[in-house]
Formats: sequence, C-alpha cells, structure tokens
Amino acid sequence: MKWVLGIESSCDETGVALVGYRSDAPDIPKLAAHALHSQIDMHQAYGGVVPELASRDHIRRVLPLTQQVLSDAGLRKSDIDCVAYTRGPGLAGALLVGAGLACALGAALQRPVLGIHHLEGHLLSPFLSSDPPEFPFVALLVSGGHTQLMAVEALGQYRILGETIDDAAGEAFDKSAKLMGLPYPGGPALSKLAELGDPQAFRLPRPLLHSGDLDFSFAGLKTAVLTQTRKLGAELQARKADLAASTQAAIVEVLLKKTLSALEQTGAMRLVVAGGVGANQALREALTQACQHRRIRVHFPELHLCTDNGAMIAMAAAMRLQAQMAATRTDYGFDVLARWPLDEAAGAIPI
Ligand code: KG4
Ligand code: ZN
Repeated sequence: MKWVLGIESSCDETGVALVGYRSDAPDIPKLAAHALHSQIDMHQAYGGVVPELASRDHIRRVLPLTQQVLSDAGLRKSDIDCVAYTRGPGLAGALLVGAGLACALGAALQRPVLGIHHLEGHLLSPFLSSDPPEFPFVALLVSGGHTQLMAVEALGQYRILGETIDDAAGEAFDKSAKLMGLPYPGGPALSKLAELGDPQAFRLPRPLLHSGDLDFSFAGLKTAVLTQTRKLGAELQARKADLAASTQAAIVEVLLKKTLSALEQTGAMRLVVAGGVGANQALREALTQACQHRRIRVHFPELHLCTDNGAMIAMAAAMRLQAQMAATRTDYGFDVLARWPLDEAAGAIPI
C-alpha cells in the first residue's frame, strides 16, 4: 500500500487525510483517516470569511490535524509516500499554509509533493463513498465559489458544459440568507428554515431557465429576494420560512433543469453531484427522483464530505498517482493559484 497525505486549506476549513492506494492494482484508493477543523464559529461574528483570520487559524490547526490522522490510521510520518495539497483556487494566504506544510514535510521526509485542484477534489469526492461512480459521467459542481456542469470522460478529462455567469449557487444561498438575517454560512441555515415554509409562497425568478444553454445566473435571484424583504418589512419575521423555501425552490429548479439538459445533450447515464450545495436535501431529492425516472444513476459524496475536506484532496492525488498522471515535485518549490480554471488543470497538472 502507498500512502498519500492530503491537506486542504483553501478557505475556511482545515482538512487533513490519509488515503492508501495500490500501484499494482486498479482498486479504488481507500480513506484511512481524516480530520477536519471548521472555522465557521470564528467567522460567524463577521458574517463571512475573513481571509487573514482564516490563514492564521490554518497555521494553528494543520500540524495537530496531521498528527491526529497519522495516529488514527496507525501510521508514522515515514510511512507517507507523497504529500498532496490544494494548490488552488481559493484564498491565496490560506492556500499558502497547506502548500507550505506539504513542501516542508515533503522535504523533511524526502518524498514528492503534489498540488491538487480544489474542484477536482470535489469532483472525485464521490469515489470516497460506498457506492463510487464509474467514468464517464456528467458532474454538477455546486460550491460556494463555483457552479459548473461538466462532461467527465475519465480522470483528468473535464469539459465544461456550462457555468455561472455571476454568483455561484452557494453564493445565492449565502447572500439570500444574509438578506433574511440568517447566520453565516447561509446555505445550511436557509435550507433548515425552508423545511418549515411553503416553496410556492413567493414567485421568484428562475434566471436563464429557458436560455437554451447550460449556463447559470443567480444574481437576479438575490435582487428579487432583496426586493421581497423590503416589501415585507416588519412582516419578514413571520414570512421568513416561506421566503427561504421559495428561494431554495428557485435555486433547485434551475440546477435540476440544467442538469437534466446536460444529461440529455451528452447522453450520459451517470450523474455526479459534488460541492457544498450537494449537501442540500431538497436538491438531492429532486435530482434523485428525476434521475430515477430516466434510469440515470446518481452519485453524491457522503454528506460530511460535500463541503471542503482533506479526504477529497488525498483521494484526487491518490487517483492521479495510481494512474501515473501526477506531476509531482521534488524540488519543494511551490506556488498557489488563487484563480485556476479546472479545464486548465485537466490532464497531467502542469507545475
Ligand atoms: O464546497 P464548499 O464547502 O466550499 C467551496 O469550495 O466553496 O461549499 C460551501 C457552500 C456554501 O455556500 C454553503 O452555504 C453551501 O456550500 N452549503 C449549502 C448546504 N451546505 C453547504 N447550501 C445549501 N444547502 C446546504 N445544506
Ligand atoms: Zn470547496
């Protein structure tokens, strides 16, 4: 067994994990241990992520979490064969913490290091589940910073079919929730409240629903939510659950319709849903039901691995190493890429 340590520090979660793979067999790599520290409590007072605080907290957490996963997996530092880290996209200062530790550890152990694309991590996270997908598939990537539909032919072969032209789906949840006075991060708070509301109470726009392409736009929805909160005034408190349910219904309907179009256009019979918004229960149910009708297999990451974590970074690295598609480095020079389109990272990641 070869062991990969994966480190994620692109935003507000510090994640570290150990994944094992066999270089002499095509078995799907296996998660041995993972540990996560969420900074949500720290950022909540500010209503959003404060980048400088995020970086400092990653520094505090990353070594203890590394020690924890080694101990949980019953391994020693010297058992690590490769150290992987999130190279981008994300907050530059936060990314540098993971990259710095990965390169320092790699140099100390004389092991190669490997920079991983954060979205590739999300994309491959369903391979960590008990019902892993097979290539090819269509992927719906819905996170706080990205909303993309992708044709995934094989590992490293990613073609973007459509993406958001303004806000991401997670951003639509977060910004709408903020307008309703809900705490950060808005997605989970809004969807919890939505359970108590009527999704048809407010008629909110479904941007680009009939545009004929696979692009998304969520900025108009946020404006419509703002208009509603102003109209409601003092009544907002009493109608908040209805507004939350209506907002969620609008986002889910657009994601569902575009995903079904992508499946139709590509003829794919498998769908993978990944990223933080993939934890949304209404979205999971809508996609599961629609795919069942069409005999399409749908794969989600396990709920706790939808949002950022180290396991997905270690998994992506292990899959690339196993397929001999990893541009590892042994000079321990590193950089991070705050902006990095996924299709530019396809194939062997150039460093
Ligand atoms: O993938 P992720 O952890 O970070 C990024 O790479 O951006 O996604 C975070 C996003 C946030 O916008 C958060 O509000 C959203 O995922 N999110 C949800 C839910 N859980 C997390 N949105 C809707 N419903 C949820 N249950
Ligand atoms: Zn993410």
